Amino acid sequence: MCGIVGYVGKAEAVPVLLDGLRRLEYRGYDSAGLVILRDGELFRRRAVGRIKNLAKLLEEQPVAGHLGICHTRWATHGGVSEANAHPHLDRSGELALVHNGVIENYRDLREELIGHGCEFRSQTDTEVLAMLVGRELDLRGETPVTKELLLGAMRKALRRVQGTYGIGVVHRQLPGMLFGARRGSPLVLGIGKGEHFLASDVAALVTHTREVVYLKDYEMVTAWEDGFEISSLAGGGCSYEINTVEFGAEEVSKGKYPHYMLKEIFEQPNSLRDTMRGRLSSEEATAILGGLNMSNSELRSVERVVLSGCGTAHHAAMVGEYLIESMAQLPTECEFASELRYRNAPMPKDTLVFVISQSGETADTLAALQECRRKGHRSLAICNNVASTIARESDGGVYMHAGPEIGVAATKSFTSQVLVLNLIALLIGRIHNLSSMQGREILKELEQLPEKVEKVLATGDAIAALARKYASCKNFLFLGRQANYPVALEGALKLKEISYLPATGHPTAELKHGIIALINEETPSVVIAPSDAVFDKNLSNIEEIRARKGPVIAVGTEGNRSLEEVADDVIWIPEAPDYLVPILATIPLQLFAYHLAVSLGCDVDKPRNLAKSVTVE
Ligand code: M6R
Repeated sequence: MCGIVGYVGKAEAVPVLLDGLRRLEYRGYDSAGLVILRDGELFRRRAVGRIKNLAKLLEEQPVAGHLGICHTRWATHGGVSEANAHPHLDRSGELALVHNGVIENYRDLREELIGHGCEFRSQTDTEVLAMLVGRELDLRGETPVTKELLLGAMRKALRRVQGTYGIGVVHRQLPGMLFGARRGSPLVLGIGKGEHFLASDVAALVTHTREVVYLKDYEMVTAWEDGFEISSLAGGGCSYEINTVEFGAEEVSKGKYPHYMLKEIFEQPNSLRDTMRGRLSSEEATAILGGLNMSNSELRSVERVVLSGCGTAHHAAMVGEYLIESMAQLPTECEFASELRYRNAPMPKDTLVFVISQSGETADTLAALQECRRKGHRSLAICNNVASTIARESDGGVYMHAGPEIGVAATKSFTSQVLVLNLIALLIGRIHNLSSMQGREILKELEQLPEKVEKVLATGDAIAALARKYASCKNFLFLGRQANYPVALEGALKLKEISYLPATGHPTAELKHGIIALINEETPSVVIAPSDAVFDKNLSNIEEIRARKGPVIAVGTEGNRSLEEVADDVIWIPEAPDYLVPILATIPLQLFAYHLAVSLGCDVDKPRNLAKSVTVE
């Protein structure tokens, strides 16, 4: 995915655009560029690499003006080069366009435009879009270009496009006018005093305004200093709602932390409190989740639950499978969203689907949701991003309320997802098999969770030392049983995505079926071994690893001395019921991955090749 920002107002546009881009850099960081419109001229600057390269270029070749659009790119069509960096121009060079999304039929359109004499300077699908809008304007042949003419040309062009887009447009003949449109990729209008903004994410706007309009699919916006209009792609005005963003600049800055990832790890006691806030009913000994839009009798008729997501969200879904089956005794399955969308597995009529996504924009998860809804299954979302496409397209769901997550590696979103799944399991469990006493006991444990997380975070220095101790190892295994198997997968994913070290997660008992061949003195195994019903089994597995000289880092429950005797190192977590251990056990693994990657000199907030949310297949 990419990030776009637009500005029109009285202020100098470049600092506003650069500040916005920096806050969207998590969306992609292959190249960046901007266009400023001043005195009827377009001034374009583009640079390969991070935003800082664009900022440097702008110091060498400054440009002033009060209207502009900019872009940070995560390459999809065409390599990483200045020519492929946005903004792209139309044939006349009068129109500039930035784009987040994918134009699927760009090849056909490109051929057609070449036939009309367009000369392409990049390999991107975006340039096709710029040329297409320009071509529609040419066909009208009217000058000067008016707002209505450009909107008409955008409508015609966008109707021909297959795929997704969130775009920002400026035209040389329309000074003081900023245009945008969206389908499938997010776009937000920020409303200031005598100024307006466009962005892919509110994070780019909150230093300037908290008043926003989240554009819906097939909507277009025209903004100028003192006003704006929202219209539909079909033509005609649209009703809209002005929302106030709940968080401010503080929450989207690093604060005292060197990286967003570390800040977000340490935010977990509060993000978990926010996830639970107002959702625990001691009176009824259950969870209150009004957003599901389902009565107790509708919930009671659910025969089966399907959980789906990608990456970390898929790991949370895997934990959810254990939680819902054990707490609510309801058959539950978990599937990668990317698989679910293309499979045609039988799904009984009374199946309830939950898709899980921090961003709410992940293409595979959105497609899985759409497919399940098409087949008539009630499909709910567990999302963090309130205005996201997945949240909007679902039949209801539960917001995570974890606050903005900017680090590319998901941390606090995972623990909030698992917490939401606990709440869902409790709610369904209470209408099936759990007594009010059991429900109350679960609520008590949930309330104590944030304090236990604080205790885990207090061991951060010891975990940092451990990470440094193992930083020279070239390969890691992560092992866990039952609901801690997905924790092992998540620990491995965190380590590999930010440190680029091979790390794999496995069910601990699978070790002897092949994985044990990897054990040697230089391959540490991180074993999640809390004091639960399978602790003795884990202990035997640790002995098997040690017998082959493999170093073992165990994650165990405070006070369990037998673990200390067998493992090389132990990370302690507070005593907790099985359903909360996955949250407590994941946090030290996040810290371990973070400190190890930092000691290797890796850029943990912006790991190579990755972007925060993946809006392409
Ligand atoms: O926004 P989503 O939760 O839908 O994102 C899903 C995955 O792309 C995401 O969790 C990814 O695996 C993270 N980078 C992992 O840290």
